[in-house]
Amino acid sequence: MNAAPASVPPDDPQPAGAITRETPQDAAAVDALVMAAFGPGRFAKTAERLRERASLAAGFCLHEDGRLIGSVRLWSILTGEARSVFLGPIAVDKSSRSTGLGGHLVRACIAEARAQQLDGILLVGDPPYFSRFGFLPAPQAVLPGPVDQRRVMWLPITEAAPVGAVRPA
Ligand SMILES: CC(C)(COP(=O)(O)OP(=O)(O)OC[C@H]1O[C@@H](n2cnc3c(N)ncnc32)[C@H](O)[C@@H]1OP(=O)(O)O)[C@@H](O)C(=O)NCCC(=O)NCCS
Repeated sequence: MNAAPASVPPDDPQPAGAITRETPQDAAAVDALVMAAFGPGRFAKTAERLRERASLAAGFCLHEDGRLIGSVRLWSILTGEARSVFLGPIAVDKSSRSTGLGGHLVRACIAEARAQQLDGILLVGDPPYFSRFGFLPAPQAVLPGPVDQRRVMWLPITEAAPVGAVRPA
């Protein structure tokens, strides 16, 4: 047994631009946005190796004047025995940051994981950013490659523990 379900902070006011589900037509723009945000180095990451083998559970997009300004993807995984999704990459266009769009996308992911009745959300990211949404350290989640374990975080939805091998569902 482990951490209690997260108390997710109440929603911020909705930022301009509605969230849409990613469609195949968004894929090229999402890839370009992610490449601009992270650079080519991301392809060496353990997280990317996991995403290559997992299936896409959902993706969310934000557009402004027909242009993609934010995106996030969720991948179907197991974290030990916990049915979960792996969140990432999340990216917001540089010119649109710090207006709440990233938070809007993270909350859409949390709502989606709840709707799918999953046990939680796993990610590798910056704790100072993701802790505000209720993500907690997950020191016992074992990713399939080298990773800074301090950046492995879990958003609990049920009591299931994020303990054990992380792998495609
Ligand atoms: C991370 C990212 C998606 C956040 O998008 P955003 O729309 O700016 O997010 P929000 O508006 O909800 O939140 C902005 C706040 O988070 C802070 N923040 C952003 N990235 C952060 C990070 N990596 N660590 C800590 N704080 C961060 C900002 O300083 C800002 O703080 P403020 O509200 O005190 O001004 C965006 O900065 C981005 O695309 N970064 C490049 C890609 C990336 O690093 N993604 C993964 C992060 S681990």
